[in-house]
Amino acid sequence: MPAPVTAPEIQARKGGDKIRMITAYDAPTARIADRAGADVILVGDSVANVVLGRGDTLAMTVDEMVYHTRAVTGTEPHALVVGDMPWLSYHTSPEDTVRNAGRLVREGGAGAVKLEGGRKRVSMIEALRDAEIPVMGHLGLTPQSVHAMGGYRVQGRQAADAYELISEARAIADAGVFAVVLEGVPDLVAEMITAEVAVPTIGIGAGPDCDGQVLVFHDLLGLGEGSVPKFVRRYADLADTAVAAVEAFFADVQSGAFPGEAETYHMPAESAAILRELRDGATTYPLSGAEGDHLLADEAMES
Ligand code: KIV
Repeated sequence: MPAPVTAPEIQARKGGDKIRMITAYDAPTARIADRAGADVILVGDSVANVVLGRGDTLAMTVDEMVYHTRAVTGTEPHALVVGDMPWLSYHTSPEDTVRNAGRLVREGGAGAVKLEGGRKRVSMIEALRDAEIPVMGHLGLTPQSVHAMGGYRVQGRQAADAYELISEARAIADAGVFAVVLEGVPDLVAEMITAEVAVPTIGIGAGPDCDGQVLVFHDLLGLGEGSVPKFVRRYADLADTAVAAVEAFFADVQSGAFPGEAETYHMPAESAAILRELRDGATTYPLSGAEGDHLLADEAMES
């Protein structure tokens, strides 16, 4: 098994092969992402929406993010695992930021962390760098700012806002992020930021010119409920496939077709005969000698 991907290796991919990133939140989703060849697995706080059924990401805690990050890293993926810092875990001070990020690394096993925001986060990014924690940035439509943005809206549609985003990207790249997610921005803005900063950009709803792309696992596979944003491409409809499979199980239960012979355990014939005799009163319990040993011994389960 080759060594896991590192943050410096992702940084070195600027302008090279496109970076393949996807979210995962537990062992099965991490194994699927890794088998499919992910370079980066993001344990995103989108777990709130797609797994925990919450309306936004704001209630996620550091404890919960550590828990999900640990579930992902426990599978020992080849991909770099990035733990998402939840809202308010990096807003109050550089010290709190390092302490909380340190938990994602030490307890969660992450190889890097991600935080949202631009110039305001420079001192936090520098503190993480000083603590030797690689940090990924996230600009544009930053879901943790849902109230400040007035909803989930594409950012940087006007020239002045776009220009500001480009300067925010420069600020966090100078502060030391090893890559930056660009979410929900016009393609031209992403193209300009990608040309402007020395670190890779990873787009989600940011057009084709980024150095890599990321999608939310459940969106890509059709495992979510309701509509998805315009930028999502559905590569499967696994929820429909799963419902059909569970319906088929229930139909087999009703008809008696499940379980069948192949799904059923049997006793050895001799033990079955003794059990029937016990039921019919022909033999009394407790049994003695070889019969008793035979009946009471732990039977190995048939495969
Ligand atoms: O939480 C998340 O899944 C994210 C991605 C959308 C980049 O931040």
